[in-house]
Amino acid sequence: MDFSKKIINWYKKNHRKLPWRETKNPYHILVSEFMLQQTRVSQTIKYYLNFIKKFPSLEKLAQAEEKDVLKKWEGLGYYSRAKYLHSFAKKLKNDKNSFPKKYQELIKYKGIGLYTGAAIASICFHEVIPAIDGNACRVFSRYFGIYNDITSTTTKNMFRIIVSKIIDFKQPGIFNQAIMDLGSILCTPKNPKCLLCPVKDSCFSIKNETVHKLPVKKIKKFIKHRFFYYLFICDRNHNICINKRSTKDIWKGLYDFPLIESKKNLSIHEIKDKIWEKFRVVVSSTLIYKIKHKLTHQILSILFFNCEVLQDFKKNILFNNFFFIPHNKIGEFPFPRPIILFLKHEKMI
Ligand code: ADE
Repeated sequence: MDFSKKIINWYKKNHRKLPWRETKNPYHILVSEFMLQQTRVSQTIKYYLNFIKKFPSLEKLAQAEEKDVLKKWEGLGYYSRAKYLHSFAKKLKNDKNSFPKKYQELIKYKGIGLYTGAAIASICFHEVIPAIDGNACRVFSRYFGIYNDITSTTTKNMFRIIVSKIIDFKQPGIFNQAIMDLGSILCTPKNPKCLLCPVKDSCFSIKNETVHKLPVKKIKKFIKHRFFYYLFICDRNHNICINKRSTKDIWKGLYDFPLIESKKNLSIHEIKDKIWEKFRVVVSSTLIYKIKHKLTHQILSILFFNCEVLQDFKKNILFNNFFFIPHNKIGEFPFPRPIILFLKHEKMI
């Protein structure tokens, strides 16, 4: 039996039962693949079901406001995925186009990379094209004994060429999903279960005992440390001051609070000085919450201060993207995860 037959037989008996595998609706598959780009399957399921419930079709998504789309993405991270998904829906609607069925068409859209395009084209439209992501690279670098750095585009392209020779021509979508499942169930980064592998007899790494040496991955980029000091301002009428993030930075399009940012850790004294410098207000502040938040290339140390604004703060609203919202409306806005944790801590949501 050849490689693809063994993989597909194994998949038929052992695949994960996932909600997006119960449909061939390209829009649903598209949503799942966008979510799965940087997120684990277990975390994705709940988001996927909620998203499809709220936006059951491309048309419904195209009609939605960005704020509501981001709200359904809240906590999932990498928010540009949600914005690209929304733009895709709007663009198809504007151009009165139907859903693109070809890999080459799909990858023209922002947010649809080579992996996502291949996954959609093979799963929904049976196009014979390998879907090569980190999981697939791990499986194939072990299976073929390839020592090239899997984070490089050249290596990924090499895998695309090699795998296009062994992909199942009749069931390319099943083949691609079988590799995904093999990578996450058996051919895992740590403690791979080689004895259960359907292709163990022909695996280079089992024969040569290189399973633990592969894949080769370049060391991660430099991690930047940022210090965020948030001002939680609630006026006498229980309105809360929030800010729409609009600069080219993390969380663009989401909401947070007035912020002081620093490259180094500041003392309370320094924070108060900075607040004066930036907002021209004196605040009586108390620290109420502290959190560390890790992103791919950044670590954020975040402090939240409860601020009683002693002077007129309203003029700041004009100069910033700040606005006051009634406290019971806070749940309607999309916030990044640390803000959600803070609001939960304060029992506001
Ligand atoms: N990871 C990326 N796409 C996936 C899919 N369709 N099923 C499971 N895991 C995935």
